[in-house]
Amino acid sequence: MLTPQIVGRRSRLDGGPSQDGTAGVNDPESRREAYRAAWIDRFATHGPTNAQSTVLDLGCGMGFFTPALADRFGGPVRGVDSHQYYIDRANVIARNDAVEYICGRAEQLPTLDHTFDLVLLFKVLRHMSAEQQTAATVEIARVLRPGGRVLIHEHFADRYPCPTWQRYFPRADELVRNEHVSLGETVERFTTAGITYRTLDVQTKRLSGSLSDELERLNPTKISCYGNDDAEIEQGFNALRQAADEERARHDAPGSEPPPVTRTNDLLVLELPE
Ligand SMILES: C[S@@+](CC[C@H](N)C(=O)[O-])C[C@H]1O[C@@H](n2cnc3c(N)ncnc32)[C@H](O)[C@@H]1O
Repeated sequence: MLTPQIVGRRSRLDGGPSQDGTAGVNDPESRREAYRAAWIDRFATHGPTNAQSTVLDLGCGMGFFTPALADRFGGPVRGVDSHQYYIDRANVIARNDAVEYICGRAEQLPTLDHTFDLVLLFKVLRHMSAEQQTAATVEIARVLRPGGRVLIHEHFADRYPCPTWQRYFPRADELVRNEHVSLGETVERFTTAGITYRTLDVQTKRLSGSLSDELERLNPTKISCYGNDDAEIEQGFNALRQAADEERARHDAPGSEPPPVTRTNDLLVLELPE
């Protein structure tokens, strides 16, 4: 198993109070836009450098990123998704002259060989079996141009960094880890297909300003989705409530701020050698 080297820096997504974590922006549409813009900047940092790059947004869903990829990378963009419903929605809500949406599967891409300078997989691998992922990596190697990049955003199971769940809801944490792909296996799968590791861009994302804020943010329904029983959930919330009280007491003095609750946020960068 490979142990990839990691680069890190503070996230431009830092600073906000919620999942999108976009500082100082309160209305949902502005927050969505700021979230998208921050990710597009991050993709550009690691994407191809040619003026006009052809992009495959693989597992594009309803096209949240797809038109913005066309704007930023300058070339035609194809959005592929296995669900016709999402493709139909994308064609309505994310239309763009430089974008074509196609229904298709990552394991059998509906595109010619050596077409793309960049393939983006944003929260997609987690929906695929190990066999499907292996088939998809072979397809991605086929459709990439030499020197082309692959960008993958996942909460990798072997790095899944959800501090409050890990500490206060150990079983929820374990179940979430089981749902996600591992970084080591992902890198190994792509390496076998001829696509090599370049870097792991790790940024820190602020979830809440304190444990008390985190207590408010965490949703009991969400945790119960992961199969925890009521007693486990209650026990977790009680432990978190107690830790939040203790933290408040420790930072009672004016000017004494509790540390924010953060998590890391990964972007895996791979490349098909020239
Ligand atoms: C969580 S959504 C992410 C959508 C989009 N990337 C975004 O960030 O807004 C995952 C998407 O992957 C698609 N997907 C899952 N398995 C796929 C496969 N084997 N081939 C193509 N798309 C797939 C799903 O239909 C879904 O739209």
